[in-house]
Amino acid sequence: MNLPDRIQELLGELAVLAERPTPESVLLPVAKEMEPYLGCVRFSAERYMRHPVLLAPDWEVMLIAWETGQKTPIHDHRGVMGSMLVFSGSLVEEVFDAPENKPALVERADRGEGETCLTSPTLLHRLFPRRGRSVSLHIYRPPLREMGIWEPEGMTEIRASGYDLPAETLSTLRRA
Ligand SMILES: [Fe+2]
Repeated sequence: MNLPDRIQELLGELAVLAERPTPESVLLPVAKEMEPYLGCVRFSAERYMRHPVLLAPDWEVMLIAWETGQKTPIHDHRGVMGSMLVFSGSLVEEVFDAPENKPALVERADRGEGETCLTSPTLLHRLFPRRGRSVSLHIYRPPLREMGIWEPEGMTEIRASGYDLPAETLSTLRRA
């Protein structure tokens, strides 16, 4: 079974438990399923690499490979709920408030290896690796199809959320 199908199956198994699944509750089971694929992650000097894992009607699972200096824009998630796990390395998360609709830094947190955190539906943040290579797992419900992009003067764009590698890259690359 390929990786997207296995993740979809796992999410289906978790959905029948009494506690309804959330990006938070499925994060560790999905991460465990991803572990055999981590040796196949691709880095690029050009940009952080967003690997598609699963894009389903109600869930999105994405893995990101980061090199030093590769920073997201300040962005919001358009009301989508998410969760994140740092597989390796260390990310810095800068969280912003938006007084007068302009981003103002309120917190800077280190997210170390193994750490999990939530991406609340109203979160405004940016991420970048603290030093060296990092790999992170991101789960969204519903899928994150667009993000609000923020500049110092305010939100300037609603941008489609995309990938840097084709679908099923990780499945294809997995070593037997
Ligand atoms: Fe984000």
